[in-house]
Amino acid sequence: MRSTYIISAFAGLALAAPHPQDIEFDQVDAAPDPTIVTPPVLGASATVSIQPTAAVATVADASVTEVASTNSTETNDKRDFLDFLGKRDGNCAVQPKGTGPTVNTPDDTPASFLAYQPFQTTATNAATPQGYTQSFVNLQGSSQTVSWLGYTTLSSYDTVACASYCDQLDGCQAFNIYYERDPTEDPNATSCPNPPSLTNIKCSRWGVQITADTAVNTGQNRDSFQVVIAGSNGYNKNAPPPAQTGFTGPVELGGAINAPNDPVTNTNTYMGYKFFSFGQVQTYPAGVQACTLACTAQTAYNSRHPPSTGKPNVCNQVVVYVLSDENDPKGIYCAMYSEEWAQNYATNYGQYRGSDYWSVSQAYAYTNATYSAAYGPICAVGGCPSGSYRGGNCGGWGTGNC
Ligand SMILES: *[C@@H]1O[C@H](CO)[C@@H](O)[C@H](O)[C@H]1NC(C)=O
Ligand SMILES: *[C@@H]1O[C@H](CO)[C@@H](O)[C@H](O)[C@H]1NC(C)=O
Ligand SMILES: *[C@@H]1O[C@H](CO)[C@@H](O)[C@H](O)[C@H]1NC(C)=O
Repeated sequence: MRSTYIISAFAGLALAAPHPQDIEFDQVDAAPDPTIVTPPVLGASATVSIQPTAAVATVADASVTEVASTNSTETNDKRDFLDFLGKRDGNCAVQPKGTGPTVNTPDDTPASFLAYQPFQTTATNAATPQGYTQSFVNLQGSSQTVSWLGYTTLSSYDTVACASYCDQLDGCQAFNIYYERDPTEDPNATSCPNPPSLTNIKCSRWGVQITADTAVNTGQNRDSFQVVIAGSNGYNKNAPPPAQTGFTGPVELGGAINAPNDPVTNTNTYMGYKFFSFGQVQTYPAGVQACTLACTAQTAYNSRHPPSTGKPNVCNQVVVYVLSDENDPKGIYCAMYSEEWAQNYATNYGQYRGSDYWSVSQAYAYTNATYSAAYGPICAVGGCPSGSYRGGNCGGWGTGNC
């Protein structure tokens, strides 16, 4: 996942304490590019299998290959979860009847389909299902991004039915509903290059949140027939990611944590990061799970490789978020800390790398449950609730153990 960028003249200062937790790109670059999927136009539905939890655990374990310590500061498994390309025989085979109204006023053309007012009215007035937030409305492109989880054809433009289709699959984070102009016969260059159209109402689900920026699939040509899309609405699930065994949380954050040194001991608490591309973990919730598993694996690894002096670092807080390049989701970033920080420190919303803006979204913190039973999140800046924990526990080992 390489992109050209300008190396900051200040890069050499990155190790000077206190460490600002800028987004680091080594593992991001090393990870395979996630597959961008354009949902197929053929067939009434398509399913995508979800990888088993054990696969996520394997990826998480493999990410821990060295000590992660506050003292200083990968895996490249290209996976293809998709087996969706429908067959087109190009023999004028009659296609299943469409599920939406056929558009032939004033004529049966892509332009008439795109201008057809009832599609726009329906999309604009569609209800937002409980538990979801509308992300975009009435666009002429469908979502094309990572983490596609299949689609179904609906008999009406029913956002609640589409939400239910998303809810039925673990890991679904978003859905896209739209009208698609499809041919009544499978186009054949000589016999039926441009058959009359029909309309399908499609509901596509995703394992990552979707935005207008990725609603860019405006259709395709099949011989002389033009597939186009209208009334495309996108919705994202509001629910936080699931709880993880052995951790408290998730605690919702406005961005990534950018922690100073521990306010009492003046020691660094940042332990480095892991990055899992959507090609590895497939969905956002699976990425969250990989982060917490990697945090635990890192704690275990550190304890098997203790430092010559002092205590091994424990990953007590892991901050997880979706990292996107120009709003294209790339993967799940996990920043590890030896102490828990309060939401007040979640001030890293993203950063430029060359001309690209890399943004942070869906950020949540998980804390080792043993640690959080003993200490609160550190908060020593303006706006902290009174009685906030001021720090000084030496990464959970207790005062005097730094
Ligand atoms: C188109 O149809 C003709 C027969 O009508 C057939 O010979 C030809 O193979 C078809 N083209 C494709 C691409 O299937
Ligand atoms: C929590 O921290 C303890 C060390 O204090 C460690 O043994 C344990 O594995 C950690 N739990 C998780 C879920 O990471
Ligand atoms: C810190 O780094 C030094 C030099 O790399 C090493 O000798 C020491 O054991 C490390 N301490 C901890 C706590 O990791």
